[in-house]
Amino acid sequence: MTNLTGITDYKYGLEKIFPQAEDFLPLLGTDYVELYVGNAKQAAHYYKTAFGFQSLAYAGLETGVRDRTSYVLKQGKIRLVLTTPLTSHSPIAEHLKKHGDAVKVIALWVDDARDAFRQTVDRGATPYLEPTVEKDEFGEVVRSGIHTYGDTVHIFVERKNYKGVFLPGFEKWESAYNPPATGLLYIDHMVGNVGWGQMHFWAQFYHDVMGFANLISFDDKDISTEYSALMSKVMTNGNGRIKFPINEPAEGLKKSQIEEFIEFFEGPGCQHIAVATNDIVFTIREMRNRGVEFLHVPGNYYDTVSNRVGTIDEELETLKELGIMVDRDDEGYLLQIFTKPVEDRPTMFFEIIQRKGAKSFGKGNFQALFESIEAEQARRGTL
Ligand code: FE2
Repeated sequence: MTNLTGITDYKYGLEKIFPQAEDFLPLLGTDYVELYVGNAKQAAHYYKTAFGFQSLAYAGLETGVRDRTSYVLKQGKIRLVLTTPLTSHSPIAEHLKKHGDAVKVIALWVDDARDAFRQTVDRGATPYLEPTVEKDEFGEVVRSGIHTYGDTVHIFVERKNYKGVFLPGFEKWESAYNPPATGLLYIDHMVGNVGWGQMHFWAQFYHDVMGFANLISFDDKDISTEYSALMSKVMTNGNGRIKFPINEPAEGLKKSQIEEFIEFFEGPGCQHIAVATNDIVFTIREMRNRGVEFLHVPGNYYDTVSNRVGTIDEELETLKELGIMVDRDDEGYLLQIFTKPVEDRPTMFFEIIQRKGAKSFGKGNFQALFESIEAEQARRGTL
């Protein structure tokens, strides 16, 4: 059974929505996303205060970990791990030096992490973490991992024999500071930016190594060359729960926003995390009040939006006030908005999305969106 978001509810099992995808790697969902950051304590405060994440778990010196500190935050089904190195001599510090605050791990929830490792490595993936069993008094977790674009990795997490708060080695994080949630529910998709001519390679990687299917492609004609041009292929697994659009730069009159990302990120990496809400008006009002900065939508965008999307449940005035964009496809409509980059390098940002039937990605908003991104690039002197 499929709900309006195109996400199959787990209790109904792993229904196939995209029959062309292969089933050798059943993915139950996104398990967690780990960011390597310069100061995890302060980053945790930002994601709690501004995004409404809740304190979940902690690992660091006090729990016997000597080389890093990790704070785990939760909202809805989303688990965000913020990790900072405690010494300069560590792969975490190297990652941080090169990329700044960045997504390192996109962890995927599986039933069998050993099999996920074997299936993907047999199909050509580069190993990152051999299957590893971690145990504590709450049971055991098996994790394994493979490399994907740039220095980003996928970790497969098998937690069916685990009852603890997050992973072995983590303690429950009890905090006296608990700002309310903002209505974020789950990760809708995560986008990777790769270099010139690399999109097909990485789309093929997700097809060959993980059995994903190509859901949609956007070429440089869809994404006008007058603006910061890009090409994109959206790859999805069989049950539609995991969607990874892959972007590459395209030649345009101005410098591609993807090229700007790759310059400042110093390589390919995760460009944005799209998180779903069931009440985008509430979510964005809260996030704006808490200091999250969003891309500016040109005021005239709302003059023509009704012609394009027809009748919607929300008041246009409210959407205009909050800068929320709308797009429609054959199956319904969606509401979306993009934050500015959440670190000083113009690299990773978030998208907040509410799907009302639509399973697409807001193609009708690309022009307005890219005008806005282009204005930001001009202000940074990177256009
Ligand atoms: Fe997106």
